Amino acid sequence: MNDAVATAILGDAVLDPREVARQFPVLEQSVHGKPLAYLDNAATTQTPAAVLDAMRRFEQHDRANIHRGVHTLSQRATDAFEAARATVKRLVGADGRHELIFTSGTTDALNLLAQGMVLAPEGEPLLRAGDEIIVSGLEHHANLIPWQQAARRAGASLRILKPDAEGRIHVQDLRALLSNHTRVLAITQCANATGYCPPLRELLAVAADAGAITVIDAAQSVGHGQLDVAALGCDFAAFSAHKMYGPMGTGALVGRRDLLERLAPLRFGGDMVDTVSFEEATFADLPARLEGGTPNVGGIVGMAAAARYVADLNAHGLSAHLAALRAHGVEGLRQIPGLRILNPDAAEAEAIISFVSDNVHPHDIGTLLDEAGVAVRTGHHCAQPLMRHLGIVATTRASFAAYNTHQQVDQLIAGVASAIKFFQ
Ligand code: ALA
Repeated sequence: MNDAVATAILGDAVLDPREVARQFPVLEQSVHGKPLAYLDNAATTQTPAAVLDAMRRFEQHDRANIHRGVHTLSQRATDAFEAARATVKRLVGADGRHELIFTSGTTDALNLLAQGMVLAPEGEPLLRAGDEIIVSGLEHHANLIPWQQAARRAGASLRILKPDAEGRIHVQDLRALLSNHTRVLAITQCANATGYCPPLRELLAVAADAGAITVIDAAQSVGHGQLDVAALGCDFAAFSAHKMYGPMGTGALVGRRDLLERLAPLRFGGDMVDTVSFEEATFADLPARLEGGTPNVGGIVGMAAAARYVADLNAHGLSAHLAALRAHGVEGLRQIPGLRILNPDAAEAEAIISFVSDNVHPHDIGTLLDEAGVAVRTGHHCAQPLMRHLGIVATTRASFAAYNTHQQVDQLIAGVASAIKFFQ
């Protein structure tokens, strides 16, 4: 899909979720005899025909290995791959100071970053013994465990920027944690378990002033068109294609080129080298240096199509649509006795509603919702430390995307009300 095609799909109209939903073949089904209301978009969004078509076109017409062949298909595949890099960079606000490394997703990107900061085959590593890494207490395990491991390997220490009892982060708490040894601040743009968005600009500015390298987990925000690395002034951001209407198994680490140049490659092999002898090797320049082996080229082509798709949704009022769905859901769920919504404040939230009931376990709510055709996620959302901090074992989480309708929000509210009634 090119930009012209994307515009043709949505036309000039304001986002109409029913029109959007028609572009997603998987949504045209019933579950347990009920129309599917897919509200698990924070785990993965679905993929529109434009993205599926782009991938099929690549596989049927251009498939070849990249950066290696002089033949026509290899050149076409290489062009498609590098054009995809430019497209995704545009979506996330990367400019001439940045480079983008394709990965298999957010987890892979954060591992590449954290481990690459510790190991330095040439030069000084970015993380050294005695350094301090600050990680927010909101994080998904993917933005915590890589830093735990990096700290252990480097002899650095890990500090947690804890949220308050409501799950909010405060800038003065970051100020109190910063020291001359702070090397990294790693924080999410939107907490996947609660939907809370911390005051990122202020936090990043304070951390950068103290000389820290700033890292954003943008997994939950990139699909809402909310990531702009140049405007935010962050040093690195990680994200996945499958949460922005793209394929699974693809994602990226975008960051400051001068810092990326100092990351140690983790995947040694073909395509990331300059010269190789039996004894040793020298490595290629960015981005190839950090992209060893044959990448998922078809997936990356799909990721670029998804990036264009998100940009187009964004231009047609995606944020307002998601905010309206969330406000509707919060309002309806609030009326249900014994239900507590985490972080109900719209000003600090993305398109996620996470809630707990006094009496009914989230898995029971989730199972009855499934019978009503509503797909939500239940559990600790891979954020066990945050759950423990908030004194919660698990939540039920509904998360919205462009194709969700207000009717589906009503389906959610009615399903939750009847699940709670059933167990009382
Ligand atoms: N990070 C994904 C979620 O929040 C898996 O569900």
